Amino acid sequence: MENGRHNSDESIFSMAAASCRRYGPLVPVSQSPRLPSPSVLLVVALFLVSLVPAGCSDPDREILAGMGEAEQARFLRGRVVSTPCWTCHDLAGRGKKVGPSLQGIYGRRSGLAPDREGSPAMIGATIVWDDRSLGAFLRDPSGFVPGNRMVFPGIRDPGALSDLLFYLRHVTRPPPPASEAG
Ligand code: HEC
Repeated sequence: MENGRHNSDESIFSMAAASCRRYGPLVPVSQSPRLPSPSVLLVVALFLVSLVPAGCSDPDREILAGMGEAEQARFLRGRVVSTPCWTCHDLAGRGKKVGPSLQGIYGRRSGLAPDREGSPAMIGATIVWDDRSLGAFLRDPSGFVPGNRMVFPGIRDPGALSDLLFYLRHVTRPPPPASEAG
């Protein structure tokens, strides 16, 4: 005589796992006709994901495997710092987020992400993104590129910022080129 909700718990967990990655759900989650409404599921899934970010099969396993302990610790700290970024950015470039994909951001010019047109301010800034420029931007987005559209207060803690950059440098690396243009 439970309230009958328990049936869907497993599905909710598998959805949570599938949306663990910054790429969004890559693998289609098998649909159960009994699921509650998508918006309810989404809220629950997001809540679970926010509770147990490291509980999912780790999306960065391969990267972590190539690191020593100190680097792993730094990477994981950076990953925590990056949490708010993935509200607005992804690595897939599917254009479903308000901000541009961060994949391949290192070495790219500001405002020229393939999936999103940058603001005039961002394009006009003609920054080439590297640790230095990203650090300056992420410390104070509106101060470094006045008039840009990223609504984010910035990360003032130098340690957190440096960990974030370390993490970003690894995860934004484009995957091995399947189709290199030119
Ligand atoms: C509230 C949404 C939001 C959050 C949170 C956010 N961003 Fe952004 N970000 C944007 C938008 C929108 C732009 C495009 C700005 C423009 O073109 O003026 C942007 C632009 C950028 C750019 C420049 C992209 C380019 O193509 O030149 C970088 C790099 C970036 N964000 C990194 C981050 C990182 C790292 C974080 C987390 C610390 C973060 N952002 C958090 C919305 C967000």
